[in-house]
Amino acid sequence: MALFKFNFKSKKNNNETYALADSATDESMIGDKLNFASTEAYKLLRTNLMFSFPDEHGCKVIGVTSAMRGEGKSLTAINTAYSLAAANKKVLLIDADLRLPSVSKKSGLRMSPGLSNLLVSTNKMADTLQHYAFKSTSVSFDVIASGDIPPNPSELLGSERMSILIRELTQYFEYIILDLPPIIDVSDALVVSRIVSGIIIVVRQNYTQRHLLSEAIKQLEFVNAKILGFVFNGATETTTAYGKTYGKYGRYYKKKYSSYYAKGEAEEGGE
Ligand SMILES: Nc1ncnc2c1ncn2[C@@H]1O[C@H](COP(=O)(O)OP(=O)(O)O)[C@@H](O)[C@H]1O
Ligand SMILES: [Mg+2]
Repeated sequence: MALFKFNFKSKKNNNETYALADSATDESMIGDKLNFASTEAYKLLRTNLMFSFPDEHGCKVIGVTSAMRGEGKSLTAINTAYSLAAANKKVLLIDADLRLPSVSKKSGLRMSPGLSNLLVSTNKMADTLQHYAFKSTSVSFDVIASGDIPPNPSELLGSERMSILIRELTQYFEYIILDLPPIIDVSDALVVSRIVSGIIIVVRQNYTQRHLLSEAIKQLEFVNAKILGFVFNGATETTTAYGKTYGKYGRYYKKKYSSYYAKGEAEEGGE
């Protein structure tokens, strides 16, 4: 496993990319169980997130998405929340993937009542907030799980009630991390991008299809989402040589988001 950092800059956004290693089980990839290098990668991500909003005061709402399923969005969302909480920030993680929720499964917290229940107003906030605590490090943050799976996730996530809920929650937290569904196929993540401060895109090595990633970025740009940066999930030692790290994805980024650090590598990297 290697840690790697890459800077990308576009006119609109200040994009960063982080590499996280492949490892064995979900449990070994969360919070205090993460290996040293991945923990360091998350610290870097945290630092850059903290500096991503120089003009914004108050709570930052950050969505985590990707083009496809299984790219590591939920793991990234949980670990980003953990990392911010480890820096003594007051953090709330919301499982906003109402179709295939996984925060409760990965954390061992209960799935419902959660977000969907709050959005149809059958539950009070206090009933849905759960505390996710890590014994060995004493780090903890709050979680709102997905709730019962609803028949109309896009409608719920795009509802006025969702905006109001997030606005209310911003009064109590410094960071709200939203674990979102993928961009391709359903509009859930796009409708939520209206109410977030910024979006992190997860890209998984040898998994993410480049044309789908390209399409996902296009769609996010179309709705004027602020892309904060990319998390490169599944980096391995051999592929983290400077300039070659992102392989086929790197080439796309370099074309799309001119990179001031990686200029020299643009020709070398990619396919
Ligand atoms: N870096 C990684 N190394 C090994 N397995 C991973 C890695 N990232 C994700 N996975 C596996 O892929 C599955 C999907 O990850 P998850 O975070 O649930 O993705 P998403 O939320 O994007 O669908 C996880 O259960 C995990 O087993
Ligand atoms: Mg997920």
